[in-house]
Amino acid sequence: MQPSLPYPHRRARLAQAMLDAGGGLAIIPTAPERPRNADNDHPYRHDSSFHYLTGFDEPQGWLLVSDSGETTLLCRPKDPTREIWDGKRLGPADAPAALGVTRAFDVAEIDAVLVEQLARHPAVWSTFGLHPALQAQIDGWLAALRDQARSGVACPGTQRDLGPLLADMRLHKDAGELATMRRAAHISAGAHARAMRFCGARFRADPQATVREYEIEAELLHEFRRHGAQSPAYPSIVAAGANACVLHYAAADAPLRAGELCLIDAGCELDGYASDITRTFPADGRFTPAQRELYEIVLAAQQAAADATRPGARHRDAHHAAVRVLTQGMLDSGLLDRDVVGDADAAIASTAYRQFYMHGTGHWLGRDVHDVGEYLSLAEAPSEQVDATGRPAVMKPSRVLEPGMVVTLEPGLYVRPALGVPERFWNIGIRIEDDAVVTDTGCELISRGVPVAAREIEALMRDGDRS
Ligand code: GLY
Ligand code: MN
Ligand code: MN
Repeated sequence: MQPSLPYPHRRARLAQAMLDAGGGLAIIPTAPERPRNADNDHPYRHDSSFHYLTGFDEPQGWLLVSDSGETTLLCRPKDPTREIWDGKRLGPADAPAALGVTRAFDVAEIDAVLVEQLARHPAVWSTFGLHPALQAQIDGWLAALRDQARSGVACPGTQRDLGPLLADMRLHKDAGELATMRRAAHISAGAHARAMRFCGARFRADPQATVREYEIEAELLHEFRRHGAQSPAYPSIVAAGANACVLHYAAADAPLRAGELCLIDAGCELDGYASDITRTFPADGRFTPAQRELYEIVLAAQQAAADATRPGARHRDAHHAAVRVLTQGMLDSGLLDRDVVGDADAAIASTAYRQFYMHGTGHWLGRDVHDVGEYLSLAEAPSEQVDATGRPAVMKPSRVLEPGMVVTLEPGLYVRPALGVPERFWNIGIRIEDDAVVTDTGCELISRGVPVAAREIEALMRDGDRS
């Protein structure tokens, strides 16, 4: 069997990167299985970096990458009895042909294989802080080697963090990865549209209806799975009314009623890649004037963030652009009192805007919903900036965007009841989130398969049965 690209190519790039940094052996375990109770595990999900380098999704796998380019896989042995219960295993005999690794062993031999291979390398590379047990295992292998020092066996003299090397590779997506991410975003957009149509139909049939958050979540899951997505990429947020002001709210059993907004933050994982979309829509398909006023501010903030997302711009530029539009909107709508906080510059400098917008505007997206990748430009000199809370700080500048990076753009407004805040806005929570691929000239929003303009959402919810 031909090893499927692009995995051998990625392993070769990793070997070269280690060689350029002084050489060594990389140890990359997949994710551990997590027991739930006596005879059941939590659903198994591979480690993202392990899968990025192997395409192999069985548990108990280990990949070793040498700076020479040689690769070793450790995996579960074939076992006819266990395979009756758990399904087929690849096994070490078939792994080199199937995965393109140089050699493979039964994972039971891990201690002997590691001690033998580490003796031939100047450094051991692993992702620091990945699993507490990993460092203990590495310490054990190094100790075994040191015990053999008097017989002339060498031991790596340094331990290096593999995390930044892998993160940088994963941050720049290739064409195949982007194609999968487009499909994931398309499925998720369809799920959001389905949820809108579902609510529109329910409230058309009965304006007094209540729809439970879990009913809407079920529509999302149905759409994910029927298009082949393996699971949600993160716990779905389906927040009725005031629940939208709880940033990490999980879909529960609260009723959604006509006149309220519904905020859905949900995306599927497809073939190991995440999507991450938020839409906020009126339960009965008609924004109230107060809801629409704030919605238009958030939408304009997202457009400003998208305009600031292009090669050469910095990751944080999108946040600054969104904060400016949101803050101006807070002043124009009366959410913030000009007589108290001053103009937009003053409200940004004092961080007064954080009463209604308290999170960042985006994160890397890829195999994980909050994907790996350094957010700062570590090679540049530090400069005076504002930190994540808006306070002045001396820190490295934000990272410069390059084609092939993927970020989310997710501004919002969250209005908790408070003295001095106009009552008509109380309990409104709005977020709009799309997934943006940085292109050669700007960015492409790959999650726009679901409407985002207020009138288009209203039209979909009104005419959904025909769309
Ligand atoms: N859904 C997680 C996030 O938006 O960051
Ligand atoms: Mn997000
Ligand atoms: Mn999200």
